[in-house]
Amino acid sequence: MLRQMEQPRPKLFDFHGVSMTKYFTDNWDNVQNFKARPDDILLATYPKAGSTWVSHILDLLHFGQTSPERQTSIPIYERVPMLEISITTSPSTALPVYNGKDHIDQLTISPRIFKTHLPVQLLPKSFWEQNCKIVYVARNAKDNAVSYFHFGHISMLQPEPGDWSSFLQRFMEGKMVFGPWYDHVTGWWEKKQTHSKIHYMFYEDLIEDTGREIDRLCSFLGLSPSAEQKQTVIREVQFDSMKKNKMTNYSTALKMDGKVSPFMRKGKVADWKNHFTVAQSEQYDEDYKKKMKNPTLHFRTEV
Ligand code: A3P
Repeated sequence: MLRQMEQPRPKLFDFHGVSMTKYFTDNWDNVQNFKARPDDILLATYPKAGSTWVSHILDLLHFGQTSPERQTSIPIYERVPMLEISITTSPSTALPVYNGKDHIDQLTISPRIFKTHLPVQLLPKSFWEQNCKIVYVARNAKDNAVSYFHFGHISMLQPEPGDWSSFLQRFMEGKMVFGPWYDHVTGWWEKKQTHSKIHYMFYEDLIEDTGREIDRLCSFLGLSPSAEQKQTVIREVQFDSMKKNKMTNYSTALKMDGKVSPFMRKGKVADWKNHFTVAQSEQYDEDYKKKMKNPTLHFRTEV
């Protein structure tokens, strides 16, 4: 049997107009028929926009006081599972069979908190019917691309990332798992204009002032943590704390090779400057202007 890190990488293919790998489409009919509950909290992000960070914040805010053992015994990707992920049995993969939808169905906590990377048009309709609260986190495209590139080296659920310049080209063309970043952040932004239960957050704002963003999040969720509880959350979700914490740093995840690059890599705004050449940045900015037409959606590439 192949060892987990020697598995063949999955192929990217077009799926309802969005690039995907089989790990996010194999359970498609069940995912589309998912039955949301009115008090479910869905965290939606493009991959590498900070979903683990906000997962931990949401879990601590809801269960940090009542079930503190959750945080010390259950890895974050099990506390806040991903809806569409599906790892089916295959003799060539050493991965255990798992699917996020069944995992969520079995959750006994209330509210259930779980995540998705689906673009807005592919979200199962039950979320809209049940009028669930949705927290969307977006990150500026340049840092998002850099983080996704490094992640491609460690996640066996991703195609081979290739070298940085070819990866960047494919990122600009939208040939990434979960499709183009541009459509994802814009699609969710536009949905928010007509759907009051979407709270749209920016990674850069969280870096700038975690406490302020937690306040805004709490007001959206209808939570009123004590000052002490809030300070505990702020402390526990700092990058260094999460990097050291086995329950948040993905060191226990089977499908990751953290030796190549740690999951908790840098956690900064503007790391793109260490990757983009001047020419790449200029070409990127030109292309970005053509693709990002919504004048109300602004990203910061530094804070
Ligand atoms: P980098 O690769 O730039 O370091 P996701 O959880 O959606 O996969 O996103 C991962 C990115 O969020 C990684 O970015 C990771 O380091 C960053 N991240 C995770 N926790 C963080 C925290 N507490 N503070 C800042 N960044 C964090």
